[in-house]
Amino acid sequence: MAHSPGPTSGFSAPGPQALPAVTTALRAAGCVFAEDEARLLVEAARSARDLDRLVAARSAGIPLEHLLGWAEFCGRRVVVAPGVFVPRRRTELLVREAARRARPGDVVVDLCCGSGAVGVAVAAAVAGVRLHLSDVDAAAVACASENAGPTARVHHGDLYDALPSALRGAVAVLAVNAPYVPTDAIALMPLEARTHEPRIALDGGPDGLDVQRRVVASARRWLVPGGHLLIETSREQAEQTRTLMTVAGLAAQVVRSAALDATVVVGHLE
Ligand SMILES: C[S@@+](CC[C@H](N)C(=O)[O-])C[C@H]1O[C@@H](n2cnc3c(N)ncnc32)[C@H](O)[C@@H]1O
Repeated sequence: MAHSPGPTSGFSAPGPQALPAVTTALRAAGCVFAEDEARLLVEAARSARDLDRLVAARSAGIPLEHLLGWAEFCGRRVVVAPGVFVPRRRTELLVREAARRARPGDVVVDLCCGSGAVGVAVAAAVAGVRLHLSDVDAAAVACASENAGPTARVHHGDLYDALPSALRGAVAVLAVNAPYVPTDAIALMPLEARTHEPRIALDGGPDGLDVQRRVVASARRWLVPGGHLLIETSREQAEQTRTLMTVAGLAAQVVRSAALDATVVVGHLE
């Protein structure tokens, strides 16, 4: 959306009667889904003053999910704190493909977990998995800890360094949505994302594949024989991601969803 302050003050009360004025203010600020967002902000506001604050912040380009404190993902609400990557709808393909391959009792790892949306959704779809999540960013780890159930374990650190060594050779499903935007392409992203989501969540290095390369290079050491590595990538990068896996000794295939505009590469350790 465009970021203009818009007419943001003077909502008399946060009830449904405020909806038309809030919708108008959001539309004036360039918000495409003004009606839907107005409804959510009105519901979230604790007072007229709070509604003023929320509409002003949204008009200034702060992501809706950071204002609400949650995002909808795979049919459930996931806590998303300011400064944490907002899970995208397209990532539901990664969840779907990971859940298809997970069995009760399996170790499932959500590496680069952000809010933990992926791991939590896989665990909700397949009862009894042993879920581990990890991220290098402390804000993401705190957020994932809120979302993960009491039986999940959340770790903090750089990729595999964060995981307990007992998981070596024991991971059945390794689901990864690491940053994959090429550094130069970050400038082309919506202002909202590049301003309010941390650089470390977006920047995949010169060709976008720096973190994926490191993930794939060590994956065999962590997967159980028969285990799967699943990486979200872009349509353009899919062949490169697949080649990384093949070179690392995994049988790899590209899975695409036109409906979600999503691409996942699935590697299998035979
Ligand atoms: C694109 S976001 C995806 C977050 C989450 N998986 C999702 O789909 O909503 C990438 C995440 O990778 C994390 N990350 C980046 N580099 C990392 C590293 N070297 N080790 C662990 N996590 C990393 C970032 O902090 C960020 O939370």
